[in-house]
Amino acid sequence: MTSRQFPHGFVWGAATASYQVEGAVTEDGRGPSIWDTFCATPGAIANGDTGEVACDQYHRYPEDIALMAGLGLGAYRFSVAWPRIQATGTGPANPKGLDHYSRLVDALLAEGITPWVTLYHWDLPQALQDVGGWAARDTAYRFAEYAALVESALGDRVSHWTTLNEPKVASHAGYGSGIHAPGIDDLGQRMRATHHLLLAHGLGMEVLRAAPGRDHTAGITLDLSPVVPVTDAPADVAAARRLDGDSHRLFLDPVLYGRYPADVVDDLGGPAAFDFVQDGDLELAGAPVDFLGVNYYRRIFVRHSPGEGRLEAATVLPDGVPVTAVDWPVEPDGLRELLVGLAKDHPSLPPVFITENGAAFDDEVSPDGAVHDQQRLDYLRGHLAALHQAVEEGVDVRGYFVWTLLDNFEWAEGFAKRFGIVRVDYDTLRRTPKDSAAFFGSVARANAVEEA
Ligand code: FCB
Repeated sequence: MTSRQFPHGFVWGAATASYQVEGAVTEDGRGPSIWDTFCATPGAIANGDTGEVACDQYHRYPEDIALMAGLGLGAYRFSVAWPRIQATGTGPANPKGLDHYSRLVDALLAEGITPWVTLYHWDLPQALQDVGGWAARDTAYRFAEYAALVESALGDRVSHWTTLNEPKVASHAGYGSGIHAPGIDDLGQRMRATHHLLLAHGLGMEVLRAAPGRDHTAGITLDLSPVVPVTDAPADVAAARRLDGDSHRLFLDPVLYGRYPADVVDDLGGPAAFDFVQDGDLELAGAPVDFLGVNYYRRIFVRHSPGEGRLEAATVLPDGVPVTAVDWPVEPDGLRELLVGLAKDHPSLPPVFITENGAAFDDEVSPDGAVHDQQRLDYLRGHLAALHQAVEEGVDVRGYFVWTLLDNFEWAEGFAKRFGIVRVDYDTLRRTPKDSAAFFGSVARANAVEEA
């Protein structure tokens, strides 16, 4: 056993997202979100599941906070549901919506848990989708107004802010493949959505920076993976470059440098296909962030696939790679490789926080009620060891949030795929910490991981 000690002050936390855990979708003036609508669309979600009740965290947050406190976690990353604050995405704040998050923040602080607020984790007010959603430029300005409402209510107690979670998934899965809300499959809309999300990030940063008398730590979370061609054949290598560009650099370059990468612009139809970009947008998107949030789950293996979409790049699973219950390859060293690569490619990379990492497995409940989720525990241990290696190799990583605190509504997969370190029985909503929770708590307390 080697003990790998993390730097002093390293942040250990758990992450969730509003629509995945809250439930209470019609309570206290919350308006419908695109996910409520999508869940009501036949065939959109496995088993016809919906987030109507989810983990009922809207009511049960004291219990969830007690669980985190018991594990010794220092931070909770959660998102605010925009339609709780503005039911239709515009106008004055709904005080009951703000009060909920205010109580949540107070309860966290009372336990010494630092709140990390994500302003947008995909639950757009449906009324804004009705007028174009993220494909419409106006949505970015509405986001800035919403951000200001949340900041003014919570900013006296919350100092860690993330504008957006995974804008790539919001645009590409929401508007480009239609597997997520709002279920649109249209490259033109997808490209606009990407741009307007990046603009919203920039406008949101401006709001957070301008808040009088505050000293916020603010950034954005991107989902990033090393992208590997399945063979050395030039066609596969080129396909991997295109996919990496479209999935990662399309977001990373605007955020870090205020520009779209030239090769990706070419891949997506050239400058004429970006005619919605206005002067100053990219400068806003590229305003300095205090940190980059990185969500890491897997390596992505790519093969050239003629005729498949505009990029002609298919994600494949090489033989023999172990996978999780959602068929994502288990690649702990991919995390080290990703972080070391980011630091090398971007000498001015801001400090990094791993804002999500974790795995779905088909958990079994033992006769004694316990969940011995050895596979998840091993997954976490392996990734934490790889993370530590990246730190040793000089990458400035300052914290790690496990995805996720609780089994929850896993988007199009519904409730069948369980990512939690705490089991949720969806009949009783009872929470049972799994073995991985005890493991993660021991890591957080020791600020170290034991490597087998
Ligand atoms: C990420 C999402 C998160 C969760 C995990 C498994 O893409 O940010 O909400 O669904 O994947």
